[in-house]
Amino acid sequence: MNCFTTSWGEFRLTRFPEDPREQLRAWDAADEYLLRHLHGDTDAPAVPLTGTVVVLGDRWGALATALSSARPDGLGQAARLVQITDSYLGRQATRANLVRNGVPETAVHLLTSTEAPPERIDVLLVRVPKSLALLEDQLHRLAPALHQDSVVIGTGMVTEIHNSTLRLFEQLVGPTRTSLAAKKARLIFSTPDPVLARPANPWPLRYPLPEGIGPVSGRTVTNLAGVFCADRLDIGTRFLLQHLPARQGPERVVDLGCGNGVVGTAAALANPQAELLFIDESFQAVASAEATFRANTAPEARAEFLAGDALAAVPTDSVDLVLNNPPFHSHQATTDASAWRMFTGARRALRPGGELWVVGNRHLGYHVKLRRLFGNCQTVTGNPKFVILRAVKR
Ligand SMILES: C[S@@+](CC[C@H](N)C(=O)[O-])C[C@H]1O[C@@H](n2cnc3c(N)ncnc32)[C@H](O)[C@@H]1O
Repeated sequence: MNCFTTSWGEFRLTRFPEDPREQLRAWDAADEYLLRHLHGDTDAPAVPLTGTVVVLGDRWGALATALSSARPDGLGQAARLVQITDSYLGRQATRANLVRNGVPETAVHLLTSTEAPPERIDVLLVRVPKSLALLEDQLHRLAPALHQDSVVIGTGMVTEIHNSTLRLFEQLVGPTRTSLAAKKARLIFSTPDPVLARPANPWPLRYPLPEGIGPVSGRTVTNLAGVFCADRLDIGTRFLLQHLPARQGPERVVDLGCGNGVVGTAAALANPQAELLFIDESFQAVASAEATFRANTAPEARAEFLAGDALAAVPTDSVDLVLNNPPFHSHQATTDASAWRMFTGARRALRPGGELWVVGNRHLGYHVKLRRLFGNCQTVTGNPKFVILRAVKR
């Protein structure tokens, strides 16, 4: 547990799921800079936080926790604080961090990136997301709720704020400038232009899949902006689609980390008796998977769609097949932890005899983890870049 010292007070914060060995903090210099600015501790006066205050893209709830703890002096007593996130893990972290710091969960209205945003926004605070597409989509959705007196401030690390980021604020909100950098973070100030002619929102994006990838060849996939590889088919996914297990009969199949749902939809088309469960920690991924599945399967095809953390919500010994292309972020610690959680979850959720199929970059060495967990791991096939691995629960 780390202590986040801000102008608004000190807060004990963790990421989610909480892991005592976790070294990564639940905030960064971009959160700190924004909080200092709002409090009036930079060279500008404090920002009045009144009316509806929306925090978009708060990673682990550091902003929502700090601002809501500050009632009634900082955040006006009557102000309504809303957090909008695409991440299930971020939302759970926010909940836990609020409670940990003595703030009732109800102090923040938690919305997902797929729910209707507030109709009027007086202050919009944007933690610039890693995905420019998600920022584009979310600004499109929120901009109509801004008025000419709304305050719009973005924050991010300098490595996350590009000309294309600022162009989005210009195009979708209004005139935009940036602050000086502090501890490698920067603020973005946009002034809402009430007569701005905004381009149409390009999201969701639908495109036809190529031929030669099994049952989903030529089918159309739906991608909301927050989805992994939203504008093209990932090459690892393509490889898995070409080598899916041939199974028939009534069985329960999980598309774990489903993204746009293309893998689970292929499994359902190959085995119409299968019952699918699509899981992702991105709300927009889960919505995309549902759209992809519904558009390509018969009305009686059975599936559930769940925003969650790996297989945490799936009962033990209840699943016959798990299909998985694990997340691989640039941050190695995060990568390993997520893949490991998915594999251990699969080991628990599979019935004896059930199988986990994983596609991964050869160099990630997933076979070592799988062999350790399952006591077996077979390479189904491979190419110079990827391997498909199969582990059976004994
Ligand atoms: C490499 S992508 C694969 C997406 C899709 N299956 C495909 O092949 O195109 C990994 C997915 O795992 C999801 N993910 C990451 N951490 C997760 C978690 N803890 N629980 C569930 N899904 C997670 C990501 O949002 C992402 O959609």
